Amino acid sequence: MALDEGKLMEFLGKFVTDLGATMAAGNIVVGDRLGLYKALADAPASPDELAARADCSPRYVDEWLRGQAAGGYVMYDPETGKYSMTEEQAFALANPDGGVYAPGAFRLALGSLRAEDRIVDAFRGGSGMGWHEHDEDVFVGCEQFFRPGYVANLVPSWLPALDSVVGKLGMGAKVADVGCGLGASTVLLATEFPHSKIFGFDYHQRSIELARKRAADAGVTDRATFDVASAQDFPGTGYDLVATFDCLHDMGDPLGAAKHIRKALAPEGTWLIVEPFANDAVSDNLNPVGRVYYSFSTFLCVPNALSQKGGYSLGAQAGEAAIRQLVTDAGFTRFRRATETPFNLVYEARR
Ligand SMILES: C[S@@+](CC[C@H](N)C(=O)[O-])C[C@H]1O[C@@H](n2cnc3c(N)ncnc32)[C@H](O)[C@@H]1O
Repeated sequence: MALDEGKLMEFLGKFVTDLGATMAAGNIVVGDRLGLYKALADAPASPDELAARADCSPRYVDEWLRGQAAGGYVMYDPETGKYSMTEEQAFALANPDGGVYAPGAFRLALGSLRAEDRIVDAFRGGSGMGWHEHDEDVFVGCEQFFRPGYVANLVPSWLPALDSVVGKLGMGAKVADVGCGLGASTVLLATEFPHSKIFGFDYHQRSIELARKRAADAGVTDRATFDVASAQDFPGTGYDLVATFDCLHDMGDPLGAAKHIRKALAPEGTWLIVEPFANDAVSDNLNPVGRVYYSFSTFLCVPNALSQKGGYSLGAQAGEAAIRQLVTDAGFTRFRRATETPFNLVYEARR
């Protein structure tokens, strides 16, 4: 069969872009760790000036800047030989508290890829790999990847989209943040609603240790506590709100979790389910966001689910129909999509 030259060139263009992005991922994390983006966001700089600002070796900084400029992550002015960042580049690369923090996403990606040998074995034998077995960059990168979205959306839009939840939180509610990871959402809730008590649970001991530290740093330990517990057996009842942020699809027994959450809720309580944005049909997820999620899911979500009891592995692109099925199978009588962002679907379930 004759090769179509045009189609081949198109594919090769895609491949070169991806190869560059893959190597750039390491450079982005290096730049973040060394404070190079923050230093460049302050003012344009020559390689020597930036190296001095960030206390790095000039030759490395010079090469790094060239790669960054080639990828469109910084700007280069050939007249002055100086590099700079646009407002948008600085927003996405130099500000962990903005709406997007690209270095966190790349840290998560690099941390995930360190599991390559385990994932190859898992493909062959069908075994799982628990979240707790990954590199620490997975936990911290996950926090850095998701936290900006929570800062931008949780209080301004997700909670108001739920039926009568904000008022309860303001007065003082009992809340469980299940599968809380490093507690980004837990700490946000505790900061915004000082009269509420927020209980963070995660099966992963190390995440809980780091979450306690985050709560201490934020000064909210009086109202945000963290304990090791799975979604299928976390303690307490009478919760006004139970939240699962980007973790239901990671579980081997999400149905067991849903049933347990239903029992733990107060009669008029709400289950807030935040999941990755996904359509129901695979063909409708074959786009850049779907690619990001399917690829992470292959290394993180599916292996974690297969490492747990339960027999489920929803994957990070489960879609609304699968979540609705699960929630109604668990006995919830009300379920609706409350709101969405380009990266998240936000559901509300009531007993
Ligand atoms: C993608 S991370 C999300 C963490 C956090 N909710 C966030 O948004 O930053 C998934 C989390 O689910 C937790 N997890 C996985 N299976 C679990 C289970 N069965 N019970 C409780 N937590 C679980 C993992 O330990 C991990 O912290």
